[in-house]
Amino acid sequence: MRTRRSLLDLDDLAVEEFAEIFARTTAFERGEIEKRLQGVACVNLFFEPSTRTFTSFNLAELRLGADVVNLSPRDLSYMTKGESLEDTMVTLAAMGVTVVVVRHPEDGFPAKMALHFDGHVINAGDGTHAHPTQALLDLYTMLEEFGSLRGRTVVVVGDVLHSRVAHSLIVGLHRLDAQAILVGPEALVPTSYERDGVRVERDLSAILPSADAVLLLRIQRERFTQMPISDDEYVARYRLDAARLGLLRESAIVMHPGPYNRGIELDESVLRFPGWRYSRQVLHGLGVRMAVLDLLVTGT
Ligand code: NCD
Repeated sequence: MRTRRSLLDLDDLAVEEFAEIFARTTAFERGEIEKRLQGVACVNLFFEPSTRTFTSFNLAELRLGADVVNLSPRDLSYMTKGESLEDTMVTLAAMGVTVVVVRHPEDGFPAKMALHFDGHVINAGDGTHAHPTQALLDLYTMLEEFGSLRGRTVVVVGDVLHSRVAHSLIVGLHRLDAQAILVGPEALVPTSYERDGVRVERDLSAILPSADAVLLLRIQRERFTQMPISDDEYVARYRLDAARLGLLRESAIVMHPGPYNRGIELDESVLRFPGWRYSRQVLHGLGVRMAVLDLLVTGT
């Protein structure tokens, strides 16, 4: 079907639309808000836990004047009564639902929904595949800092392999002409990422002096059967702590998509570091999601 635009990954956006989304984000954050989605019905459907992404999509929809339904997966007939995904989507569209925001543990689940939906599907994170609005808010946070990302070096640390955030961000950094360097052990950052035009490094301390921005990742334990590296070894080699912060340039910033695990990928000194931008990221999540909803639904 796919008669209306969905956002499944950043590839669904033309490069000039990035700029459009960022300009709208700024406008929304400045309070130049019109209720541009008045009467538009949005369903949020999260099959996995979420604090930031769920709340900010919800607030974004409400601030745009949309009608919002938060559907719990356990209440779906699809989950318990044998209704197919196709029939679920046809049913929602028949009711006039225009937007479905979905998070799901399976790669490609939002794309399957979009195939059967006469409306917009927004991917709020699918498996290890993609998390496009997170990448957009991370890019926006860096743009706020640096103006342009051309030629900037962004170091992504940790469990890249299982991170949909990292996978979408790599696409976005490439589009904006920034250099991505992935750092972590082979089991979490396989050398095969070099095929995507990114650098892979193993020694965090050696790479930190060249970073404009550092994005730390959570070890996605829920996606492992057996941890390939002990916590002690991970901490010794990859935790950002006071000593490693001292290797950064003064202008460098540190980010994390959240949720972060204190003591594992970072210690308390990171939370006091002047370049720690976590709260800016969370804040921009709201504006970016308003901008994405607005662009997809109004098309103008
Ligand atoms: C992430 C996610 O769920 O993909 N969080 C987020 O959306 N901000 C990252 C994670 O769970 O580690």
